[in-house]
Amino acid sequence: MSILKKHAILEKNVTLLAVFAFLVVTIGGLVQIVPLFYLENTIEDVEGMRPYTPLELAGREVYLREGCYVCHSQMIRPMRDEVERYGHYSLAAESRYDHPFQWGSKRTGPDLARVGDRYSDEWHVDHLRNPQSVVPVSVMPKYGYLEKRMLDENAGLASGMLAAADIGDIMKTNKLIGVPYTDEMIENAESDFMAQIDPDGDYDGLLERYGESINIRNFDGQPGISEADALIAYLQMLGTLVDFSTFTPDAHR
Ligand code: HEC
Repeated sequence: MSILKKHAILEKNVTLLAVFAFLVVTIGGLVQIVPLFYLENTIEDVEGMRPYTPLELAGREVYLREGCYVCHSQMIRPMRDEVERYGHYSLAAESRYDHPFQWGSKRTGPDLARVGDRYSDEWHVDHLRNPQSVVPVSVMPKYGYLEKRMLDENAGLASGMLAAADIGDIMKTNKLIGVPYTDEMIENAESDFMAQIDPDGDYDGLLERYGESINIRNFDGQPGISEADALIAYLQMLGTLVDFSTFTPDAHR
């Protein structure tokens, strides 16, 4: 009997077909799933990745609250058009400290995964105030009010306004779900938050805890620490942590 004829037996018997289909799907599923239980980590460690500083984390909160992800993705796919436009494709490690991740599913505006260092702080201030002033065809809404909401004066999340005093709690929550914030980082949350905006102050502790490559400056150019400061600090570090001139994927080592 030829193999085709043997297969005809299966095709003519619904019960038999169901049993064999079930077997095939089960084996295929096991082959894909079982190895995952023996991997310690499915994300390869990449040099340079670190948790967000308190100021960047506050900026991320503003980003989430304002729904920037509705129009912007943070995930560069490994295809030529994307890589030429946005830079190196996104690595899993680059969103490992994002809860929830910001890959997004819609691009009304460009991908922001590597927007850090692409524009000046002044550009971001102008763009947030009035996107059309720097990109005349832009359909992005205005976010000028962010520079008037002061994180160092706000009453706190309990009253509905994010404040510097909330950052430690947000870090604790992140720690609970796997971000490696140390007790020392959490204890110093508020002072590290203030330190990042003041290049004349004492920011040694901040650098010690988060690394030498932290941007320390007054991001929105105005006194006090506004939500715009935090948001721009966050945007300016996006995609800049991994040095792609020296990066080689594990598989190619
Ligand atoms: C209604 C959709 C929409 C929303 C919401 C939105 N944007 Fe945009 N964004 C755009 C569009 C369209 C552009 C491209 C034109 C421009 O540069 O303004 C853009 C551009 C940008 C750029 C420049 C990117 C580049 O590579 O040139 C940044 C940075 C940015 N947006 C940040 C934000 C942030 C932060 C938020 C939330 C506070 C936000 N956007 C919310 C639509 C949006």
